[in-house]
Amino acid sequence: MNTIKLNQSNNMNSKKTISLLLLVLFTSISQINAQSVFISNTQNRTFTNLNGKWKYVLDPYETGQIGFMPVYKNSKPQDKTDRVEYSFDKAQTLWVPGSWNSQKPELTYYEGSIWYHKAFDKKDLSPEKRYFIYVGAANYISTVTFNGKELGKHEGGFTPFSYEITDLIREKDNFVIIGVNNSRAANQIPAKVTDWFNHGGITRDVKLLEVPSSFINNYFIALEKSSISNKTKKINGEIQLSGKVLPQTARIKIPELNVSKVVDISKEGICTFTIEVKNLELWSPESPKLYDIVLEAGGDVVKDQIGFRSIETEGKQILLNGKPIFLKGISLHDENPLRKDRANSPEDAAMVLGWAKELGCNFIRLAHYPHQENIVRMADQLGILLWEELPVYWGIDWEDPTVLEKAKKQYTELIYRDYNRASSIIWSIANETMGEPRNKFLISLASHIRSVDNTRLLSAAGKKDQAGDGHPDNEYTINDPIIKHLDIISFNEYLGWYGGLPAECRKKTFTSSTDKPIIVSEFGGGAVQGFFADSLTRWSEEYQEYLYKESIAMFDKIDGLAGMTPWILVDFMSPLRQLPDVQDGWNRKGLVSEKGYKKKAFYVLQKYYKSK
Ligand code: GCU
Repeated sequence: MNTIKLNQSNNMNSKKTISLLLLVLFTSISQINAQSVFISNTQNRTFTNLNGKWKYVLDPYETGQIGFMPVYKNSKPQDKTDRVEYSFDKAQTLWVPGSWNSQKPELTYYEGSIWYHKAFDKKDLSPEKRYFIYVGAANYISTVTFNGKELGKHEGGFTPFSYEITDLIREKDNFVIIGVNNSRAANQIPAKVTDWFNHGGITRDVKLLEVPSSFINNYFIALEKSSISNKTKKINGEIQLSGKVLPQTARIKIPELNVSKVVDISKEGICTFTIEVKNLELWSPESPKLYDIVLEAGGDVVKDQIGFRSIETEGKQILLNGKPIFLKGISLHDENPLRKDRANSPEDAAMVLGWAKELGCNFIRLAHYPHQENIVRMADQLGILLWEELPVYWGIDWEDPTVLEKAKKQYTELIYRDYNRASSIIWSIANETMGEPRNKFLISLASHIRSVDNTRLLSAAGKKDQAGDGHPDNEYTINDPIIKHLDIISFNEYLGWYGGLPAECRKKTFTSSTDKPIIVSEFGGGAVQGFFADSLTRWSEEYQEYLYKESIAMFDKIDGLAGMTPWILVDFMSPLRQLPDVQDGWNRKGLVSEKGYKKKAFYVLQKYYKSK
């Protein structure tokens, strides 16, 4: 068992130790060439689940003395005989996946570093295989070490990452230590203030992946849009392999379509292909058809279930498979309110998708950050279209070039994870942002996203006063300075909640100065479930019901309205919402309460969607 005991030195020594540590830390990080490989579709690969109880130790002053940087008695850190050990033996445990905030009262509002530790044995190690530690997400910065060696750091609270441990893993006494720091900072994504709870920790699955020595780490398979109206459809694909000795060819099989095609692999480990198919059944909300796909290369076989559809715009219309579609949506945070924690399981996904289906939705805005992969895969199966986004949210430091690089990297990770999901149709690049530096930043981000994935539509949730040149009386022009870089114009509008009464909605008109589809990406108001009063009593269910009726009537008049995602399906946790005996740490704009009870406004939206 790995045990590290801090040397009980006097204060002077410990100061020296800490400064030595920081020196060693910085030099060692610069030397780390983390074997980080993006591995998609981990659920269909061979893995050992490392979920469960992990030991943990707080590190509120971020000294990093916990685990991955063993403390040494003297100044020669390489000399192992001087190594004093630190023990996790007496440490308490946290459940993984899960935020630490939701598991320990003393950690409810903890923001800082926690070091997680998991020991495990691994029998039947094979020299023909490679091994990776995979993390579905950890919020916000993670430092991964394995058997005492630091593998790398990942920044981003909502996208997966993997590090290779092939040369380090052994049959007995392995230990993985992951340091997670959820501190907020101005140069992060999101920045310092968010209207959602900063759930810290390893919030999604951890797996020990085992793959052949050369394997298919990622692939991108999609219908060629231009073939949508032809009898013979085209499927484009790219397969990426990782390994020292790469196979010459790969095979793509779609058994139901009698497809079995061999393609050459370049020396860089890439192969691209186009397959022509007849009688392809397209994926849609009405008929969410998924095909079994088998990819073979060398000793690796990867299976997936992929739906084929096209998504594009034509004037003010959004076309799914060449036909106009109205997106009957709802916004959603990635949270199971019953556990006061991030959602992290198929059961969590099924609960909220069930409510969305009951509402009559064919569309969900996964706000404001990448949600768990289970919900994207389940949306594929249920036929629910998705808007996905990165938390490029309030207060982003637009002029810090490292922030733009972070946005590009995290968006690439999201696209790598969800590229093959038919349900995902829109990448949104920002929420309620404005100003010239914002425009420059987002134009660059949009261009990057299109370079990685040019099959989906781009949007950004704007604000009326940012998006439009609102006239003082009642006419608003919806626009976005960067609209020519987007496919859909979206805006958030809270008339009747943040200013004005619901009746004001009757006087307002919204027009768009661009010939593009419009999505109302947020509207709504708060209600305490079970608080009944008249329709002008704020926080009552009746007020919210009235607000929905008036808001829907106002937006339904918009020429070019292609969809809406009212804010929001379920009450969610937010440190900004502390109104005593009304909010108590919850944003109450949900149509369903944090206990799972529907409010009156739920049925207003349901009725509208039934009429569409
Ligand atoms: C904003 C923001 C949301 C927030 C909502 C609200 O528009 O985009 O993240 O929760 O309004 O005020 O409830």
